[in-house]
Amino acid sequence: MSASMEGESRPVVSVVPDDAGKDKFKKHDQVAFYRRQMQGPDLRYRALLDTLVLTERRALFELLEPDTQRRLLLSVAPCRSGTVRILIDELQPFKARYRVPDVITGEPQCEQLRVERQTKDSVTLTWSSGRHRVCVWHLPFRLEILSGDEVVVTFNSKGKLWFEALQDPSRAASNGSKPQDDDAGLWKETFQQFVDIKANGPTSIGADLRLHGFSHVYGLPEHADSLQLRDTSEGAPYRLYNLDVFAYALYSRLGLYGSVPLLVAHKPDRTVGVFWLNASETFVNVHYSSSDPQADQTPPVKRRRVQLHTDVHWLSESGVIDCMILLGPDPQQLFTQYAQLTGYQALPPLFSLGYHQCRWNYNDEADVRAVDAGFDRHNIPYDVIWLDIEHTDGKRYFTWDPALFPDPVGLQRHLEQKKRKLVVISDPHIKVDPDWSLYCEARDGGHFVKDRDGQIYQGSCWPGESCYLDYSSPATRAWYSRHFALNKYKGSTPSLFVWNDMNEPSVFGGPEQTMPKDAVHYGGWEHRELHNLYGFYQHMATVEGLITRSGGSERPFVLSRSFFAGSQRFGAVWTGDNVATWEYLKISIPMVLSLSVAGIAFCGADVGGFVQDPEPELLVRWYQAGSLQPFFRGHSAIETKRREPWLFGDEVTAAIRAVIQQRYCLLPYWYTLFHQAHTSGLPPLRPLWVEFPREQSTFTVDNQYMIGGALLACPVTEPGAQEVTVVLPGTSEIWYDVHSAETYKGGKTLTLPVTLDTVPVFQRGGSVVPRATGSASCTAELQQLPLSITVALNSDGGAAGELYLDDGHSFSYRDRKAFCLRRFSMLSGRLLSRNASEEGDFECDGVIQSVTILGVKSKPSTVTVRVSGTKDASPAFQYTEAHHMLTVINLNLRVTMDWEIEIC
Ligand code: NOJ
Repeated sequence: MSASMEGESRPVVSVVPDDAGKDKFKKHDQVAFYRRQMQGPDLRYRALLDTLVLTERRALFELLEPDTQRRLLLSVAPCRSGTVRILIDELQPFKARYRVPDVITGEPQCEQLRVERQTKDSVTLTWSSGRHRVCVWHLPFRLEILSGDEVVVTFNSKGKLWFEALQDPSRAASNGSKPQDDDAGLWKETFQQFVDIKANGPTSIGADLRLHGFSHVYGLPEHADSLQLRDTSEGAPYRLYNLDVFAYALYSRLGLYGSVPLLVAHKPDRTVGVFWLNASETFVNVHYSSSDPQADQTPPVKRRRVQLHTDVHWLSESGVIDCMILLGPDPQQLFTQYAQLTGYQALPPLFSLGYHQCRWNYNDEADVRAVDAGFDRHNIPYDVIWLDIEHTDGKRYFTWDPALFPDPVGLQRHLEQKKRKLVVISDPHIKVDPDWSLYCEARDGGHFVKDRDGQIYQGSCWPGESCYLDYSSPATRAWYSRHFALNKYKGSTPSLFVWNDMNEPSVFGGPEQTMPKDAVHYGGWEHRELHNLYGFYQHMATVEGLITRSGGSERPFVLSRSFFAGSQRFGAVWTGDNVATWEYLKISIPMVLSLSVAGIAFCGADVGGFVQDPEPELLVRWYQAGSLQPFFRGHSAIETKRREPWLFGDEVTAAIRAVIQQRYCLLPYWYTLFHQAHTSGLPPLRPLWVEFPREQSTFTVDNQYMIGGALLACPVTEPGAQEVTVVLPGTSEIWYDVHSAETYKGGKTLTLPVTLDTVPVFQRGGSVVPRATGSASCTAELQQLPLSITVALNSDGGAAGELYLDDGHSFSYRDRKAFCLRRFSMLSGRLLSRNASEEGDFECDGVIQSVTILGVKSKPSTVTVRVSGTKDASPAFQYTEAHHMLTVINLNLRVTMDWEIEIC
């Protein structure tokens, strides 16, 4: 963010991304630990097999590197869910190394290992299921994970295991290992004017893994790049280091605002994951054997049968090696395994799946009211209006500018009457202001991060000189959470929700615009150890605050810019400061897919592009794409022109209205998908390969995707598009255009003519999609509308799908089982609605008004509705020959009841 460094003055944001910040961020070769590992000597670790100790939960081995005499302790622990955890630490560290807390949600249930075979070269271990085995090789040390007889993953396959031992600085100085001239960056590293002093000397770790038979890997957000990870043999490694990158460069592997160190590999018969639990700066190199130039040059006759594989090399600045291999074998199981480790997606309150209107800034209360009224005047549904930093009194969060927002409670009541909400920003930096009680309390309570000399660390951000709350401390989190209490946060009401921004953390003028790595946190840990967790912890504390404010009864909504593995438990994230160009619209799709693959399912990109002004066509196309992403918010930077949906003429207003209305109608489906994410880990947005795991042609597709199992979306992202090319996978599939009901066979690439208001979406044969019928001004109104379901038949005349309902806002679904999960299934002309969960007990008088069945070959002579306890009925129906579409109307079937419709 290029901005004025002066406190309280208006930030100056260049609306044109410039090159000024180009060198603000490090390249991989400017990072000492990366250089040390990549250029370091070959190490020859051996596993000392006779040191094997089997405990109830794990197998322990010592590893020895003879040249350096370094000894490490390897622990291998298989878990019941299909995960193998490989943990490596120093055998006798001079003090404890950082182990990432608070990300793994519970102690995974471990399996008891037994020795299956032991020779002088290797030990093979197995566990109860007998399906998987681990083989540890003595020399060179490597660890194979097998499924049956197939080696799936080899750890340390290329011998890159690297482990720099912590050193006692006083002893290091006396034995001369603390050189003054520190080229290798062991004790001190300089970048531009910034000097990083390393209290424990070099502490980096690294390891490589081979993924056998795989040539497609995904995940590792956040990068503005393709969904499938690129081979990094040429070019930069993927960097995971949370940074505030304004108008980030596209197709780049530099780190952005958040990091999830999960890599997912997929091949037709297996999906596996590698989760590298480390919160320090991390690089990942990916090398596909299929991209080996030598493999191509070898004459075919001489070519050995080389199995394809992908090599992945992880390098982190600090901590321990804590590497979890998730064995799938299918995508669904992999998502569940990952959710069992790091937590399931929080079930969002329904309103947060509606449309959000944001701008930096809505100027004052009158402006907010006018924009709110504009939505009603133009008959465009929306749920939330947002206030950026200018709403505060001098960038003091938890306060209101007295001139611009003199009556925040009145404003919220006004919105609340229309069942709408307000979101306000709350950043982690606290203005240095001895006259502000919140600052004084934080200072006196020891809630700020310290510098390396033990003084409170000061940096600069929107308010000018600021201190940074140390959210890694449980006491600080609890203290911060309390500030969201309604009696503490003056001017707040229960309809106010929160936005955490700048929480990488962003420090203007800091190294790479963030906090120095030698700053010190709770427990004496250096910032370098937990940098990537900073935003995660703020998100956690804010969520806790909102939950506590309601006495534990209401679901929170908090959007965070920074995130880590596990942030899905807290709420939503967005992709930060994008630009209003077609390329940024395009990249938003792989970016949200990568987040989804890595468990961060509630995600979206600023609609319209944050920086610069979109042309109207781009704005419309962005609304269309955004309406098909989980988090749907229009946002724009301070210097951009106003761009509320009605400011560009009737055609644009109508096109935007149409997609927002369609989004609202589809919310019963989105909500059901979020319930699924919440209970199974399967994300609502899915790359095509997740639904078509055996179809190689889908493995690289990242301009289209599935919304749940039923809908395929292919947003238009080209200017002046007259047609789009859509891949419809599955040779035995039938696809139905959701707008025209036109039918297409799968296994084909379709060229579809488009106009400005075309949003290509197809329903897969074999699925059922619930929708709300009619129009509503917000989600609370939508909940009152009758529903319709669309049954799309597959080639066997079958279909199935679910509908999840609850009150949309509280934890009653969890605490009192006040929910309803219905399953619809159609076979041989009979459509059944049945309860899909014995547990659920939800009183609601919602009804299903109409049922549309696509793929009905001929006009039925009768349609019969059966509801137990009532007489059979013959409802009115319409049949459209051209589209083989049957619509049964005026049904009025209670959602919570069992019923059946028979077509003859
Ligand atoms: C940076 C965020 O990315 C942006 O969305 C926000 O508007 C500005 N900070 C100002 O708060």
